[in-house]
Amino acid sequence: MTKENATSREGFTSKFGFIMSCIGSALGLGNIWMFSYKLGAYGGAAFLIPYFLFVFILSTTGLITEFTFGRYFKAGSYIGINTLFKKRNLKSGKIIGLLPTLGITGIFIFYCIVVGWVLKYFALSITGKISTIDTQTYFSNFSGTSSSIPWFLLAVVITLLIVISGVAKGIERLNKIVLPILFVIFIFLMFKSLSLEGAMEGVRYLVIPRWEVLLNAKTWIMALGQAFFTVSLTGCGMVVYGSYINKDFDIPTSSLQTAIFDTLAALLASFIIIPAVFAFNIAPDSGPSLLFITVPKVFQSMPYSSVISSLFFLSIIFAAISSSVSMLEGPVETLLSATNLTRKKATILVSVVCFLLGLPLAVNIGMFGQFADFITIVLSPIGVLIVAICFFYLFDKKTLLKAVNQGSKHPVGSWFVPLGKYVFVTTTILVIILGLIYGSIG
Ligand code: PHE
Repeated sequence: MTKENATSREGFTSKFGFIMSCIGSALGLGNIWMFSYKLGAYGGAAFLIPYFLFVFILSTTGLITEFTFGRYFKAGSYIGINTLFKKRNLKSGKIIGLLPTLGITGIFIFYCIVVGWVLKYFALSITGKISTIDTQTYFSNFSGTSSSIPWFLLAVVITLLIVISGVAKGIERLNKIVLPILFVIFIFLMFKSLSLEGAMEGVRYLVIPRWEVLLNAKTWIMALGQAFFTVSLTGCGMVVYGSYINKDFDIPTSSLQTAIFDTLAALLASFIIIPAVFAFNIAPDSGPSLLFITVPKVFQSMPYSSVISSLFFLSIIFAAISSSVSMLEGPVETLLSATNLTRKKATILVSVVCFLLGLPLAVNIGMFGQFADFITIVLSPIGVLIVAICFFYLFDKKTLLKAVNQGSKHPVGSWFVPLGKYVFVTTTILVIILGLIYGSIG
């Protein structure tokens, strides 16, 4: 038996803390950075149709699957998959069980590099320097060069310090404090942005649906990729969070709440960024330039620019760190369950290895992009697929539904099984295939 048996296993101390931590994991750079430009680029309000459809049907099914899998085995996916494979006399459980952990570890590496950029821009904001830089050249001279390394390190160290403190005292506490503050800052910034002269042009851009984009397959593919990433489906992180709850927790409701608040935050972020960008007559660019070139340019033209931009980057730090802790917790939990290491040692070990692996990516943007694409297109959806197949094909229907509905006020019916078995599993395979064809779905 592993050291972490049922009695000594850590856990969330309250339902509120669990929900906050799940929303914290889901709400991250994906919401602020990717969603905003996709909403603009793929038809404004029309994009919301495929997006809502995918988030509320597929992502919620995925979350229910991952939370339940973790709670059922009281373990992360490595042990869960292993146990299941052994019971069924299947081979290669160890290797297959490790893949979801590897996927989330990869996300942690490239994510922390970007969090490092955000930390740097926060520092530029509080020192007031942000108003003096040439945003275009500054970003290209900073990202992908050795000057970004200390900031990458700082992102890893902040995450490490929280994860080392444990599930209740570190992760849960952080999320309970940071998330409400984040929503307050977001709402304030949204009003600020909407009150700018010319902001309504941006609002129109977001809310007037351009229906024709729905005829473009790419709109649907982008919405699908976004839906999976935004609620943190990897077959690892949310499984681990699920393993820290007991049978009184309502999994279907928690999954829906996570999806709702995640979507709300994404919409708020769009209504902060796009109207402000329009108010200053700047094109709402996509990719890294939106957050690190376009938005700082907007701040430069505003009164009290350093206060507003400090608040903006602080809220992004909150969003990003509450996500990165869930990424680091994935491999840390796997290591804890497979070895006799203490949490402190396991966390330091994983962090050091991730930092070292990330170094070549931090100084080479091309490699960084390829790595991030490989992880998000291939490895991470494979992790989702493995857990989904184990859950829907290796559990019997009665056990599965009982495990999902334990503690639930609104139990899911038997329709949930075919939804997962056919629709969710097939779509996950589609995510991988489409990602490979299109090179990226995010
Ligand atoms: N959902 C997070 C975001 O939108 C990213 C994430 C992916 C977090 C996978 C954990 C696991 O930024």
